[in-house]
Parts: sequence; C-alpha cells; structure tokens
Amino acid sequence: MIKLLKGNCMDVLKGLEPNCADLVLIDPPYSSGGLFAGDRKQDTRTKYTSCEFNGAARFPNFSGDNMDQRSFTRFMGLISAKLRAITKVGGAIAAFIDWRNLPAMTDAIQMGGWVWRGIVVWNKGASRNIPGRFRNDCEYIVWGTNGRKEVDWNAAKGKQAMPGLYRINSVGTKSRHHQTEKPVELLKALCRICPERGTVVDCFMGSGSTGVACVEEGRDFIGIELNDEYYETAVRRIQEANDKTLEDF
Ligand SMILES: C[S@@+](CC[C@H](N)C(=O)[O-])C[C@H]1O[C@@H](n2cnc3c(N)ncnc32)[C@H](O)[C@@H]1O
Repeated sequence: MIKLLKGNCMDVLKGLEPNCADLVLIDPPYSSGGLFAGDRKQDTRTKYTSCEFNGAARFPNFSGDNMDQRSFTRFMGLISAKLRAITKVGGAIAAFIDWRNLPAMTDAIQMGGWVWRGIVVWNKGASRNIPGRFRNDCEYIVWGTNGRKEVDWNAAKGKQAMPGLYRINSVGTKSRHHQTEKPVELLKALCRICPERGTVVDCFMGSGSTGVACVEEGRDFIGIELNDEYYETAVRRIQEANDKTLEDF
C-alpha cells in the first residue's frame, strides 16, 4: 500500500488512522544552516546549496526552515506528538537532524511522548575542509519508540542489532531531485527497523526518497509533502520504483 498526500502535515496527519504506522522516518527542515539569526533566515537555496559545489540550487526553496531554536523545538514537539498518536505501541520514530539542532530534536521527540532511545550517526563523506577544526561530515538520526519495544529473544536468536553508524556518501549533485536529498541506500537500511510488510510514515517527504526505499524494502508507505513541485517529483519517483519492483518480481 502506498498513500501520497499533499499538504501541511500539521493538518494532514489529523486524517490518518490511529495505529497505522510501525515506523515514522522523517527528514524535516532543519531550521539550521548558520550560527547567527541572520544566517538562519536565508532561503534554503542560499543555506544548503552552492552553484559551483553541488548544483542543487536548480531546485525550489522549501519552507519551514527559518525557525529559531525554540520555535523549532515546539514545532517538532507538536508534530512528533501527532505522529505518535498514529503509531502502534512499540513502533519507532527516526528523525534526521544536523549538529546545530540535535539537542532541540532530542527534546522535541520526548515532548511528543516518545521514549528517546539513542542517536544513529550518518557519515556523509563530503564536508568543508577548515584546518584546525573538527570536520562536520556527519548528520544524525534521533530515534525513539512509542512506549516499550519488546524483544522476542527466541525469535531474535542469531540476529544482530542494526548498526549505529552508516558511512554512505551524500547524493551527487547531478543525480539529485531535492536540495537536501537523503540517499535511498541509507533510508533502506533505516527502514529495516520496521517489521516486514509494516507501514512507514514520512510527513516531510520531499522528493520521495523514503518512499522509494520502502518500495525496494517491501514496506508500505504513507508520505506527506507541502511543496507542489517536490510532491510531483515524489509521485513520479515512487511510481517508477514500484513499476520496476513489479517488473523484477
Ligand atoms: C529536508 S526536506 C526532505 C527531503 C527528502 N528526505 C528527500 O530525500 O527528498 C523537507 C521537506 O519537508 C517539506 N515540508 C516543510 N514543511 C512541511 C509541512 N509543514 N508539511 C509537509 N511538508 C513540509 C519541505 O517542502 C521539504 O521538501
């Protein structure tokens, strides 16, 4: 089952059934991109792309990225509460964020009532070389569960925990569909925490990378996106992935 919805997730999430999600896998606007208020208020093209460097400036700006840290924490707290209301008990949340708003995100998911379980590290390869400083070449996935997540130790015999660190290069400039696209390979690895044939919800779907990952991993998917152009891209990409999976099958 694939359901793609266009609109503001604050409103659209109200229409989803309780218990419809096994995993919430989201990549929200980080409201980041600078150390000073003036930097944060720039549009996403200025903050996250550079014509010479990655060419992703060709994509439209997206909204929701100009909040200060308090507003971001409140926004994500409200959204994560709505997301928990549609997630099964024992289901999980995994939310992307960069170093600047990492503390805000860990607060926000707890404000939404999730049990915070940890932080997964994504080493994305590229970063600016500033001698004398540590590299900022990682982003983070804050994860938690809706209450207890039971472990069936008998069924789990011989199985391993999922890695807490992924080294996967960010999507190359020419093959991108979104200014801040996440690699499908990474999303495929993350969505394996969802039971097979379970349902993944991404309410900041962008160009639909999570949906493509779910199709390829055999998970159902519900995606929400505000921006018309990115929504159309997501529909096309997920449809293509679905057609290809059926062909291969
Ligand atoms: C960081 S991007 C997601 C990129 C996606 N992971 C990909 O690989 O293409 C965040 C997306 O959330 C969308 N967005 C922002 N605020 C939203 C809202 N209130 N409801 C739904 N979508 C929203 C933006 O338009 C943007 O495309």
